[in-house]
Amino acid sequence: MSAPVGPGTGERPRHVTPERFFGQSVIVTGAAQGIGRAVAQRIAYEDGNVLLVDRSPVVEEVAASLRDVGAGTVAAFTADLETCDGAERAVATAEEVLGTLDIVVNNVGGTIWAKPYEHYSAPEIEQEIRRSLFPTLWMCHAAMAVFTGNGGGTVVNVSSVATSGVNRVPYAAAKGGVNALTRALALEGAPHGIRVVATAPGGTLAPERVIRRGPGPDGEDEERWYRQIVDQTVDSSLMKRYGTLDEQAAPICFLASEEASYITGTVVPVAGGDRG
Ligand SMILES: NC(=O)c1ccc[n+]([C@@H]2O[C@H](COP(=O)([O-])OP(=O)(O)OC[C@H]3O[C@@H](n4cnc5c(N)ncnc54)[C@H](O)[C@@H]3O)[C@@H](O)[C@H]2O)c1
Repeated sequence: MSAPVGPGTGERPRHVTPERFFGQSVIVTGAAQGIGRAVAQRIAYEDGNVLLVDRSPVVEEVAASLRDVGAGTVAAFTADLETCDGAERAVATAEEVLGTLDIVVNNVGGTIWAKPYEHYSAPEIEQEIRRSLFPTLWMCHAAMAVFTGNGGGTVVNVSSVATSGVNRVPYAAAKGGVNALTRALALEGAPHGIRVVATAPGGTLAPERVIRRGPGPDGEDEERWYRQIVDQTVDSSLMKRYGTLDEQAAPICFLASEEASYITGTVVPVAGGDRG
């Protein structure tokens, strides 16, 4: 696990393809930190118009730090994307602030708890599905209405190779749902000029989370179950390391761009050789 962590707020990403997103209007969800922030940074540096959407108001600071880095408009919007209403308002705001909508990167998600399945309570299972499946379902629903009307568009969903991971069955089920909806929606979208693709990241190094996913491990058992996840993640990658935020943002941006115009319905593993 020796790779550098990746860009901080406002910093120039390691790789930039100038003008790649010029004239394109993009929503990035979960853009206040982590992979979503790295994607929004790269698109802003590559001259796209970007609406950074997140439940946390931290997203306002991130957007402010990117306002002058490229030729496009950069704005922030706070919404809870676990609700249909939040997703519809995010899409409407993008059309209003950016003028139109061409690309949606659905990045909200993440394991909240780490434990064997029998130790999850019913409300915890529901919360995992709401966090890691519903934001993508709602955003795809809201975006498809716009894209079919516009005669085209691109959806990039952020899934996970943890569909084959230990100690997070509800999260695995949610991300399996993301993979299924990616393939099924691509079938419906293709006749309308709409591409629907996904990446499946492996373990990714990031600065300590400002916005926490949940309560964190509590007690020896939960610490051990969390360590089992880390060990399995490293072991199942051929490269025996975590990836970086740059290494996740790069394939997401490629798939979002016109360079990937012949790719749809595909989930690309980005996990050092782990296919999930
Ligand atoms: N980090 C990893 O190691 C890793 C590995 C595999 C897959 N992934 C996937 O990549 C994506 C990003 O992961 P990350 O680690 O960068 O995430 P993170 O937990 O660091 O950040 C998630 C962001 O989403 C926002 N968010 C959460 N719930 C929301 C909601 N209901 N509405 C709006 N915003 C909400 C949070 O405020 C936060 O800014 C997730 O889908 C995750 O499942 C991450």
